[in-house]
Amino acid sequence: MFKINENYLELQDNYLFSTIAKKVDEYKRKNPEKEIIKMGIGDVTRPIVPCIIDAMHKAVDEMKNESTFRGYGPEQGYDFLREKIAQFDYKKRNIDISPDEIFVSDGSKCDVANILDILGNENKVAITDPVYPVYLDTNVMIGAAGKYSKETGMYENTVYVPIKAENNFVPELPKEKVDIIYLCLPNNPTGTVLNKVELKKWVDYAKENKLLILFDSAYERYITEKDIPHSIYEIEDAKEVAIEFRSFSKTAGFTGIRCAYTVVPKELKALTKENKEVGLNKLWNRRMSTKFNGVSYITQRAAESVYSEEGQKQIEENIAYYMENAKIIREGLNKAGYVTYGGVNAPYIWLKVPEGLTSWEFFDKLLEEKQIVGTPGAGFGPSGEGYFRLTAFGTRENTINAMKRMSN
Ligand code: MLT
Repeated sequence: MFKINENYLELQDNYLFSTIAKKVDEYKRKNPEKEIIKMGIGDVTRPIVPCIIDAMHKAVDEMKNESTFRGYGPEQGYDFLREKIAQFDYKKRNIDISPDEIFVSDGSKCDVANILDILGNENKVAITDPVYPVYLDTNVMIGAAGKYSKETGMYENTVYVPIKAENNFVPELPKEKVDIIYLCLPNNPTGTVLNKVELKKWVDYAKENKLLILFDSAYERYITEKDIPHSIYEIEDAKEVAIEFRSFSKTAGFTGIRCAYTVVPKELKALTKENKEVGLNKLWNRRMSTKFNGVSYITQRAAESVYSEEGQKQIEENIAYYMENAKIIREGLNKAGYVTYGGVNAPYIWLKVPEGLTSWEFFDKLLEEKQIVGTPGAGFGPSGEGYFRLTAFGTRENTINAMKRMSN
């Protein structure tokens, strides 16, 4: 009989957002007349901006002529896009990242999962807690996370670094030795950030202890305050210790179009068991060439247009729209007596659940009584218990209505 990867049996429940979708579907089936406002999964609602649509149309038209038709593209992404990324996302911030350190993909979720292909399962992994569930689940899948303990709600071989209101959502450096740490900034789910001084501590610590930082900056475009790093490479020496994941999903509304990129600097080296240095850029390049056939030409032209003057202006309008939603949510909740965090440099608002309720109980109560869907903090890890996440990615009308419902 064939065998399965038994690590999958160690996974707890279903993927968080699938569980929520199932609960909501069931409620809808039983209460078809009720109007539900979805503020759970961070999915965008603004249509793709005209400049990107035009670029896609143009690319589609190129496909109909023999002279401009494109088949397989480079697995790492077309030069026209990698060059734009290097220039606009990095050079403009005085960061020197070359196009061949940038790998274009179909999403950051896939990239943060796939990166484990080249890292293997013998690393001691640290995650912040609460955390975007993909980091942990993918480590469970390769057998790096250890056994699940029902008692603690944690995987035994994983180091959980709490981020809580009590420590101002600043993660403390781990006391035990770890090899890899995932940092998501601006943070999903708490919507909080680290300033340059705080992030520098992590880079210095990583350099000193030879650990790798997997830095997810999918929400960097939502930063509104000064002195908050948009890229980890704004910190000196970070290229020696960090891989950065970026996405067009939340920046330009590509959750359905699918395009992201990962930066693997050439300075980044890992050790084999025989203490031989190996460059991660070369390994990731090999992985991408073998397992991926690249993002479609049409999509990459769409992503390229994000960097045009018009593209920047148009996506900024959408981002401002969502951040205005975030303000409405924060103010609405505060007025209704809730304690909130985040929502200033990120499209997520993290709120304290009323005393006496678990976060899943609060989820059920909100769905039953207000027909509002959010994400229970416990779904992001044990330290998320007692909190709840709402997203600002809804329509203005739904956001305002949701806050009216919350105030009653
Ligand atoms: C979230 O709601 O946390 C995100 O939308 C999930 C994702 O980006 O995969």
